[in-house]
Amino acid sequence: MIYRSILLFVAVLCIAACQTEKKEINLPKTDLASAPLIPKPIKTIPTGSAFGLDAGTAIYTTTTDPEFEKVGQFLSDQIKSKIGLALAVNNPSEATLERLIYINQSDSVELESPEAYQLYIKKDSILLNAKTAAGAFRGVQTLRQLIPEKSNDTLTDRPMWVIPSGKIIDAPKFGYRGSMLDVARHFFTVEEVKKYIDALAYYKFNTLHLHLSDDQGWRIEIKSWPKLTEVGGASEVGGGEGGFYTQEQYKDIVAYAADRHITIVPEIDMPGHTNAASLSYPFLHYAGAETPRVRTDMKVGYSSFDAQKDTVYSFLDDVIGEIADMSPGPYFHIGGDESHVTKKSDYILFVEKVEKIVQKHNKRMIGWNEIAQADIDASSIAHFWNEPENAVKAAENGSKIIMSPAKKTYLDMKYDSISEYGLTWAGYIPVDVAYQWDPATYVEGLPTESILGIEAPLWSETISNSTELEYLAFPRVIGYAELGWSPSEHLNWDDYKKRLAAQVPYLEAMQINYYPTKLVDWKKE
Ligand code: ACM
Repeated sequence: MIYRSILLFVAVLCIAACQTEKKEINLPKTDLASAPLIPKPIKTIPTGSAFGLDAGTAIYTTTTDPEFEKVGQFLSDQIKSKIGLALAVNNPSEATLERLIYINQSDSVELESPEAYQLYIKKDSILLNAKTAAGAFRGVQTLRQLIPEKSNDTLTDRPMWVIPSGKIIDAPKFGYRGSMLDVARHFFTVEEVKKYIDALAYYKFNTLHLHLSDDQGWRIEIKSWPKLTEVGGASEVGGGEGGFYTQEQYKDIVAYAADRHITIVPEIDMPGHTNAASLSYPFLHYAGAETPRVRTDMKVGYSSFDAQKDTVYSFLDDVIGEIADMSPGPYFHIGGDESHVTKKSDYILFVEKVEKIVQKHNKRMIGWNEIAQADIDASSIAHFWNEPENAVKAAENGSKIIMSPAKKTYLDMKYDSISEYGLTWAGYIPVDVAYQWDPATYVEGLPTESILGIEAPLWSETISNSTELEYLAFPRVIGYAELGWSPSEHLNWDDYKKRLAAQVPYLEAMQINYYPTKLVDWKKE
């Protein structure tokens, strides 16, 4: 740590020394407050000048936490892929060093949330302060969004990318900001999931919920029960070949997400939505449910595990245990929705028994709002999608609530009558409707303190690859990023839609297939 501090001191001295020889660059006037940042930060104070990002810039990070160096390297990699500039990270031999980006661990009282950050952009230095590497990572996304695509080649004898100067103070409104991907109705490859994670990270999401099992397919290798994937993994909606993640592939997704400070929430949906599991192991099947067979249709509510059998719980102990061991995050999602053929008493018994198994494996249970019918622990979380009364009941019981109202956040709903993909059972969700609601007040009687955050689920009955996934997710998911992060008083459709229009260069560079709604005046080249 001392060694690094000395290096930094030398680097700063070097910059100071270089200044005396360097001729003054006439950087253009800027306005940090008009930068099209999404999510909009809490506070932005422009100072009108600029930081010239060029080959004379180096990145340094604190050494009090090795995760900070990874964040510095991530920034360097992203700058390289965006504008082709290779910036050294923590390399004191940098001879041409003129400007510095310093990513610093700070315990400032202003940084109350672990994801808070402060960004100070001056002529010759950028200082990014954060309490944790997660906070630094969120601040790095702001910096990425501030770097223009094009350099100004008239300022010096080499290209310079002009970043507006000023100060940004920022922190998230909610600690849980997620999206969900249904990899069960259609299977998505590891590369497709990673591409979605990359875009979520850019907009400061911190959670990806993976819906890993449903009637049409089981998508995660369980070593102690191999038929789940051998039999249950070989089908999907529409009759395609399905697929599944090996445990190595799942761990790869988890690690890729963790490098972007995103937590994976695994979901095994039960006791309903379990046809693929019961087809693999018929002892799981509940007498009141439809006989298991390969299902490629889109019906729901006909399958169930047998809540009365001890062997079902031994099976679930193995399944939950193997998945929990590979999932460093705090949560395990048990689904619990639409168990229409399960007797209510069996459903309640099942949820209460499975909650204990989840807790035994050191995870907090999440379940769709139906789980509030059971006597769940206050540490368990209800995931609101369609029953306000169950969300309120769970909150009264002390549980936290994740907000995914189907009418506002279901990414699989069509935008409008001309949408190519998607369903309509919760209505059309145009881009402005998706943005103009407040998670804190949407359910009457739900106290704000009980809201853990917001999640935008993407069910995959009508989509089967990245192009189709992106068509439904973008641009709506970008708005949910802002609803989850920015203070309510900053949420303004007219202001937001201008910033959204300015996302085109990023979406195009990342080859993201967004829906070009006419509600937004897209900034095309
Ligand atoms: C759900 O949409 N069945 C949670």
